[in-house]
Amino acid sequence: MKPVEITENVYWVGAVDWNVRDFHGYTTYQGTTYNAFLVIDDKIALLDTVKKPFMTDHMEAIRQIVDPAKIDYIIVNHVEPDHSSSLPDLVEIVRPERILSSNMGKKALLEHYHAPEWSCEVVESGQEITLGKKTVAFLETRMLHWPDSMFSYLKEDRLLVSSDAFGQHWATGERFDDEVDQSELFSHAAKYYANILLPYSSLVGKLLDGVQKMDLQIDMIAPDHGLIWRSHPDKIIEAYDTWATQKACRKAVIIYDTMWNSTEAMAKSVADGLLEENVTVKLCDLKRNHRSDIMTEILDAKALILGSPTLNNGMMPTMADMLHYLRGLRPQGKIGAVFGSHGWSGEAVKLMKHALEEMKIEVIESEVSVKYVPTQNDLENCLALGRRIGQAVKENT
Ligand code: FEO
Repeated sequence: MKPVEITENVYWVGAVDWNVRDFHGYTTYQGTTYNAFLVIDDKIALLDTVKKPFMTDHMEAIRQIVDPAKIDYIIVNHVEPDHSSSLPDLVEIVRPERILSSNMGKKALLEHYHAPEWSCEVVESGQEITLGKKTVAFLETRMLHWPDSMFSYLKEDRLLVSSDAFGQHWATGERFDDEVDQSELFSHAAKYYANILLPYSSLVGKLLDGVQKMDLQIDMIAPDHGLIWRSHPDKIIEAYDTWATQKACRKAVIIYDTMWNSTEAMAKSVADGLLEENVTVKLCDLKRNHRSDIMTEILDAKALILGSPTLNNGMMPTMADMLHYLRGLRPQGKIGAVFGSHGWSGEAVKLMKHALEEMKIEVIESEVSVKYVPTQNDLENCLALGRRIGQAVKENT
């Protein structure tokens, strides 16, 4: 890809990965980008690098601006290998005067690349360095997404290089937010938040407060994945504010799997009950919806309703997978309910209920459990369950 000047003498020199389809269990079905930024000043600085297989693209983009050997500083905002695995090769070419990172970043670089000879330097939160006309300030952002994460802020350009935060896994030829469809952009940003940053929501809230207190003037946010927020940095900050507080809408997500359609029939009746209460419903069959897309639906939902038949004294494997994934992402402030069919033992509903309670999701209704095939009366019970959850959703949003 060609480099793109994003503001005066600051260039995008990253790479587009059109083909990646998985990021730790999150389906990236439209690829991603590894963004890196080159700042040309008296001292030339490279902010972040790319995943190792994209080193050639990255170097080609840099070479169109400057001889890579002339780079003075490499700033490592985040050590996860999607942003740093090309660093060993790059250091050989660049021989940088300084490699700057957070304290945890320096430790993580050593633990990843075992290169004590690198000229790694720690920058503290609030510290500034000058490149000439441009100043870079650093802000530690632990756990967004790893303990080593930090932001770099180019003061004169009012440009925040935000590492993983505000990103999207979306491969595009465009580089800026105003060049793409807005609803698609925000849907990718929401999926990214739900699947990567959700467990650290309290830290996101604190960070946003901190940024406000520091009165940072932000004209542009350049994350390390996806589109650069040139026209709408305020909108993505506003969205993060909402997602970090886990504010819920009048929405319920029904997640289910089914063996012989009994649990599916129950799911549809629960959905009908919710719709009667004018609550938005998403019906997610686990065989047809990826766990990471379901997480995106859960992000702004108030109710989480789980359905599974009993299989070998347990729940369906797809449901166990979903619950394992969900537990790690720690959604807050939801209410829940469970239902399911069984042949003779019927453990699934109890196990799902227990899993929700372990996650501190309040199970507000008794489970509806049906033997073999639901009767009309059973479906009426499911409808009534949906209505009652719908009422609770309305009372709590
Ligand atoms: Fe994009 Fe946490 O790496």
